[in-house]
Amino acid sequence: LFKKANLNKPSILVVAHRGASGYAPENTMVAFKKALELKADFIELDVQMTNDNVLVVIHDSNVARTTNGTGEVREFSYKELKMLDTGLWFNRKFSGQRIPTLQEVITEFRGKMGLLIEIKNPDLYPTIAESLASELKKNNLDCPRNDEVIVQSFDFELLQRFHQIVPNVPLGLLVKYRVHGISNVQLREWSSLVRYINPNKALITKGLVKRIHSYKLKVIPYTVRDKKSIKGLIDAKVDGVVTDYPDYLKE
Ligand code: G3P
Ligand code: CA
Repeated sequence: LFKKANLNKPSILVVAHRGASGYAPENTMVAFKKALELKADFIELDVQMTNDNVLVVIHDSNVARTTNGTGEVREFSYKELKMLDTGLWFNRKFSGQRIPTLQEVITEFRGKMGLLIEIKNPDLYPTIAESLASELKKNNLDCPRNDEVIVQSFDFELLQRFHQIVPNVPLGLLVKYRVHGISNVQLREWSSLVRYINPNKALITKGLVKRIHSYKLKVIPYTVRDKKSIKGLIDAKVDGVVTDYPDYLKE
């Protein structure tokens, strides 16, 4: 695993959720810089597309929550989207932040932290898998070393399609909370494609982590926002944690 320093000493990957989003506006360059400063191993980021096919880093399909604009991301051109302020909503001191492109994040942070890239809303962007694959190829990241890039999604079929184009990019399947948990039949199917199972942290038990590991898969649950839930996850032997506060886990 990327940057895993001492293989003899069990360590847990710290994945900064949308950057260090507890301290800075999510999915912005300043949140990713903060994650680096807090020594996160990975940044997690969400990717969507403009109407002129630029991959941009934003969580919601609509810009209203995290910018000073309104409307659907897919209806903006990149030039229009770039005019929006995405720092102000979080705190006035972050005004002037812009929605980054995936390319800007790759250029600035590759090699410094791992990139956990989530493909958002494939139903809204029919060609997003293909666009992401070409962007990774363009950056020579279609055969990433030591999992320096992982692509994740809640959509298994999308990951299958993506894998057809760039078979060497490690994949993670996000799993929402479900009352009946995760079965071995599902794990067997998923293990033929992905290297990581990234479930809602409410699904995590020691037993589940053991079963996931028995399929030679890693497990990185999301999203930790309080110090209390960290201990249980460490005890359950997860491989990493997605958190808004990368320093909590380091502590
Ligand atoms: O990495 C897991 C997490 O990012 C998935 O949920 O809604 O924050 O994208 P969300
Ligand atoms: Ca995400």
